[in-house]
Amino acid sequence: MATGLRRGLTNYGDREFSAYLRRSFAKSMGYSDELLSRPIVGICHTPSGFNNCHRHFPEMLAAVKRGVLTAGGLPLEFPVVSLGEVFLNPTSLKFRNLMSIDVEEMIRAQPMDSVVLMGGCDKTVPAQMMGAISAGLPAIQLVGGPMMTGRYEGQRLGACTDCRRFWATFRSGGISEKEINAIEGNLATTSGTCAVMGTASTMACVAEALGLALPGSAAIPAVHADRLRCAEESGRLAMQLIGTELTPDRIINTKSVENALRVVLALSGSTNAIIHLAAIARRAGVTLSLERLNELSETTPVLVNLKPVGENYMEDFHAAGGLEGVLRELKTLLHLECMTVTGETLGERLERPLSQTIDRSVIRSSDNPIDPVGGLVALFGSLAPRGAILKRAAADPRLFEIEGRAVVFSSLEDLAARIDDPDLDIAPDDILVLQNAGPKSSAAMPEAGYLPIPKKLATLGVKDMVRISDARMSGTAYGTIVLHVTPEAATGGPLGLVRNGDRIRLSVSNRRLDLLVDDAELAARARNLKSPISTMCRGYSHLYQTHVLQADEGCDFDFLGPLPADDTVSVR
Ligand code: FES
Ligand code: MG
Repeated sequence: MATGLRRGLTNYGDREFSAYLRRSFAKSMGYSDELLSRPIVGICHTPSGFNNCHRHFPEMLAAVKRGVLTAGGLPLEFPVVSLGEVFLNPTSLKFRNLMSIDVEEMIRAQPMDSVVLMGGCDKTVPAQMMGAISAGLPAIQLVGGPMMTGRYEGQRLGACTDCRRFWATFRSGGISEKEINAIEGNLATTSGTCAVMGTASTMACVAEALGLALPGSAAIPAVHADRLRCAEESGRLAMQLIGTELTPDRIINTKSVENALRVVLALSGSTNAIIHLAAIARRAGVTLSLERLNELSETTPVLVNLKPVGENYMEDFHAAGGLEGVLRELKTLLHLECMTVTGETLGERLERPLSQTIDRSVIRSSDNPIDPVGGLVALFGSLAPRGAILKRAAADPRLFEIEGRAVVFSSLEDLAARIDDPDLDIAPDDILVLQNAGPKSSAAMPEAGYLPIPKKLATLGVKDMVRISDARMSGTAYGTIVLHVTPEAATGGPLGLVRNGDRIRLSVSNRRLDLLVDDAELAARARNLKSPISTMCRGYSHLYQTHVLQADEGCDFDFLGPLPADDTVSVR
């Protein structure tokens, strides 16, 4: 039942006066009585001068408003924190929870009947989904869509896998400063999110797979006219959702989370998606288990040929059939009874005839996959008792079963100071270890897990080494990189006890990551351990460091768990 401006009137004193006051102030915006009597669709809007990925949002906003207005509602946008991935220091992840609180509280505090969540850049979509789950109002996620590729001397370029490729070539002396500068202006040339299957694209697909976004919407390029039609339709759908029980906290359950995990695995999606999905699930009272991730990974084929793992870009993925093509190939593996925001189940959606032929050079069929097993695995062992993540699809299989000597960097500062030191004692088959870059570190778990190959080895042609840390990695990066080691070094995890020269054994086939040092020696090291992490004593940094959970629980705040009401079951 639509409530329009009367929703959430103050509970103290004269409620009719409260409504009168609200109407009179709303009238100062020039709305007619007719418009003010309509249901209100809030539009959670995230443009920012510090967010290049959202620069087309004003046009998308106009399209959402069209949809709401034609369906008989009043669209009212409101701003929340916007997170532009590359402009945030020390890392955008630190502010995802802040944005999720902003989203939750502004949805709850303001008089809206449903909400369209407009996000795109890496952390914005998980933050919006987390906030909307906790707010419990009908909501639809609308993503900004990916950038188009640029060109440099006949080559297609896309942020930001190609940024890394060219920078690595520059570091090893393969291209000149003049060339790297010329390439700079061609890596990110349109509005929209990174052009590959990085974190933003993975989370757009997760939103659709969870059932929170329109079918077929995840991969539409930012500048494509279909993106505006999708925005208009999202506005219309937000009107239909008013008064229904199709709230995000009901749509998200154990089964829809498993569907999303299958999709991440089939896409060889971003490792960051595991953290975000754990946080999203937790808001809805669902635990994402890394053991379950491994089970699903054994039976989920990699189907898409997209960078950073493959060859193509997001615009190719959209043209090839987009997520629809992937979901159809995964059909026998998915929980088809899961409800979606359109009011149909995933199974009903997938029964509709396909509107295009799937391009099999980009989206493989399940009987001819790129890889018969999923792109990500969790590792457990004495070095990672609560797990670590490896994107095996982006790693070098020659490094999957190895034992090596640890070369340890105790902090980000130590890494920066010594990685390119010509006197660094390092060989190509050593294992690089970075400590104290996890959630509670002052850097708040930055994307530093992609440790650069030490310059003295890079110039010899070494392109990959095993790298282990409690940090994260950009979704657009690649390499044999073990991330999210939990518990992190700063909370006393065994990662903090590794010393130069220790032996470490990685076995991807056994899902193991072990530190080959005996328990008595580790206990002695633990007794003498002093964490180099400084305690953050004020403001949001203090709140963050005090309350952030470990990676396996999604790095959410401990006080932002599911709402107490036990109504998180499927609506059918
Ligand atoms: Fe926004 Fe990559 S920088 S999605
Ligand atoms: Mg990213």
